[in-house]
Amino acid sequence: MHAPAKINLTLHVTGQRVDGYHLLDSLVVFTEIGDTLTFQDADALSIDVTGPFAAGVPVDARNLVWRAADIAGVTPHIHLHKALPHGAGIGGGSSDAAAVLRRFGGSERAAELGADVPVCLSSTPQRMQGIGDVLCAVTLCQFDLVLVNPGAHVPTPAVFSALANKSNPGMGVLPDLTDRAAALRWLAAQRNDLESAAQTVAPQIGAALKALSGAQLARMSGSGATCFGIYNDAESAQAAARDIAGKYPDWWVMPTRTL
Ligand code: C5P
Repeated sequence: MHAPAKINLTLHVTGQRVDGYHLLDSLVVFTEIGDTLTFQDADALSIDVTGPFAAGVPVDARNLVWRAADIAGVTPHIHLHKALPHGAGIGGGSSDAAAVLRRFGGSERAAELGADVPVCLSSTPQRMQGIGDVLCAVTLCQFDLVLVNPGAHVPTPAVFSALANKSNPGMGVLPDLTDRAAALRWLAAQRNDLESAAQTVAPQIGAALKALSGAQLARMSGSGATCFGIYNDAESAQAAARDIAGKYPDWWVMPTRTL
């Protein structure tokens, strides 16, 4: 099963609840690049992990995939191919857990696994509000992207703690986002309110955004550190990715397309 990367094309922080969780207004899309899960019947739950980001991924109840299988009440052997960096603002672990719930059931309890898990249950564009629990499907054109992670692991709570202004305007009424040029113009006027807070935690994010300066739009996803650039077409995205990867061989640089 494909567990796509989650990209916050916008992420507005509009308030904070008394329990500390932040209220969000975010346009979320998913990409062709993602982790892959395969399942085999077994008597006891187990996980094995391969792929470029397998190192350090827990294979026990610390892994959201394990907890998702517990919620679904199933005990398969789960093979997880980690193509996405973790702690990276692109929902890797949340998307993996959502894939397990999609396959085996238990979707109604997705929010127990984290604020980003409900949105990852569907791989289609959505407006996400509340603390991540209020979802509305959005029709959106496709975008060719380059994802860039400058090698920084950014803990989400640290970014929210560093956020100075927790009460910003939301996205308002969404315009027609099926026309690419109009959607880009509208996106350019939106924000990721966590961008400067995340840069205080991981200053490399500034360098990643600068590396994407040839894009039509460059912005951070989630709480970082992955940033995305929107390019005119797949060829331009691939050329930009080659160029950035050549300049920054230690970074994760991935051309992809939204689903
Ligand atoms: O729910 P999840 O485990 O993904 O969230 C990680 C942390 O991010 C929370 O403990 C909280 O500090 C912060 N968070 C928040 N508001 C949200 C989502 C996450 O403050 N809407």
